[in-house]
Parts: sequence; C-alpha cells; structure tokens
Amino acid sequence: MVEPQRKSWDLEQLPTGEKKAQAVRDMFDTIAPRYDIVNRIMTFRLDVRWRRRAVNDLRLPAGSVVADLASGTGDLCAELRRQGMTPLSFDFSFGMLANDTSRSPRTQADVLRLPLRSASVDGITCGFALRNLVELPVFFHELARVVRPAGRIALLDVSVPTNPFVRWGNSLYFGKFVPWLGGILSDRAAYGYLPRSVSYLPPPAQLSQLLRDAGFRNVTHHQLSGGLTQLLLGTR
Ligand SMILES: C[S@@+](CC[C@H](N)C(=O)[O-])C[C@H]1O[C@@H](n2cnc3c(N)ncnc32)[C@H](O)[C@@H]1O
Repeated sequence: MVEPQRKSWDLEQLPTGEKKAQAVRDMFDTIAPRYDIVNRIMTFRLDVRWRRRAVNDLRLPAGSVVADLASGTGDLCAELRRQGMTPLSFDFSFGMLANDTSRSPRTQADVLRLPLRSASVDGITCGFALRNLVELPVFFHELARVVRPAGRIALLDVSVPTNPFVRWGNSLYFGKFVPWLGGILSDRAAYGYLPRSVSYLPPPAQLSQLLRDAGFRNVTHHQLSGGLTQLLLGTR
C-alpha cells in the first residue's frame, strides 16, 4: 500500500535549521491565496488592530522609510502606508509576495540576509514571523545593521497568555478549532503547525535581552489582547 505523502510542515517533531526554513517556505507558498481570509476569521479581525498598534508605536514621522520583514501578503505595508510611511516589503515566499496587494516595492529575500545597506531605513516592522525564523540572534543583528541610529523597530508575534484560564481557552481554540477551520478553508497541516510553532519562541525576557544584545535600547515588551499576541519595541 502506498502511504499518503506527508507535507514537510506536518511533522511530529518540529524541524530545525535549513529543514525548518524549507518547510516554512513551502507552507506559506501553499496557504498564500487564502492566508488573509483565514487570518481575519480566526482572530475576529483582532490582527488588524494589532498591526495598527505596532505601526503606531513606531512613533516615526510621516515619510519614514520602513522595511516590513517577512511581509507576507503585505498587511503591515498597507498599514504603514495608511499612517503616511513608505514601506518596503521583503519575504522569501513567492506565493505570499504574489498575493501582496499593498502596492509597496516587493523583494524576494531571506530576512536573515537582507539586501539592504547598513543604516539605510528609518524603521522595521515584522509581523508574526519570529517563531518561523531559524536564528533569532542573527535576525536581530541584521535589524541592528540596517536600521539607522535612533531608528525604531516593532515586532509582533503570537504569545502564551499568562492567565491560566485564558491560556487554556487559547490552547483549545488554536489547538483544535483553528486546525479544523484551516482544514476547511485552506490547509489543515499548516494551521496545525501554528499552535505548535509557538514553542520555538523564547520567553519575553529573553527576547528583550536578545534585542539589547544586538544593539537596541529602550526595549519594551507588551502583551496585547490578554496576551494572545506580543509586541516588542526598540530604538537603535
Ligand atoms: C505568519 S506570516 C506573516 C506575514 C505578515 N507579516 C503578516 O503580518 O501577516 C510569516 C511570513 O514569514 C515569512 N518568512 C518566514 N521566514 C522567513 C525568512 N527567513 N525570510 C523571509 N521571509 C520569511 C513567510 O514566508 C511568511 O510570509
């Protein structure tokens, strides 16, 4: 009997290194066409609010050039433009870039090796991608390289709520309901990866320390919507 072929992101053990990067890229290429609609439904549009807060908290003047890293379908780029900034979009998934409707300049690139000159942008945003990256310290040093002195960063990702009751509800929702919904609208394995991938993220204090080690100051960590999402801010 022929075993059905397993997708690279449908693994018992979460992959690491180059295997992880390849799995993440394949997965986003696959789910790109329905990525936005599933996001809106599964977060009850809270994701829109979280991105607005991240861009707002950059506290950069209109006209600032902001690189949105792991930009996906360009939601943060659209918000940056809405708040008067000039976004540049970078992602390694052609599928996601092809579905970017933000009309910002798009570049296919690995965000661990950015095709940007040192100190060339005023700010950086990155939404819901930290846990997908292979080497967070490398990423944070790359941010510190490309942001100009006094430039700002705003990084969003999912989080683990501290309140035990909210944590229980959250793990039930993302562990059971979201993979089911993803299976109907998009790809079950990919939306099963989502709750499991949170375990790649270091705890908040360690994330903040990694940013300081990379050269950022005024690093602050914020829990949004009861800790469903976290926002890290810093100044170069
Ligand atoms: C969950 S999506 C987030 C997209 C978008 N930032 C948002 O807020 O909706 C994660 C994105 O990270 C991208 N990504 C992951 N690792 C990457 C890497 N090393 N270089 C570039 N893009 C990467 C994926 O292709 C995907 O588009």
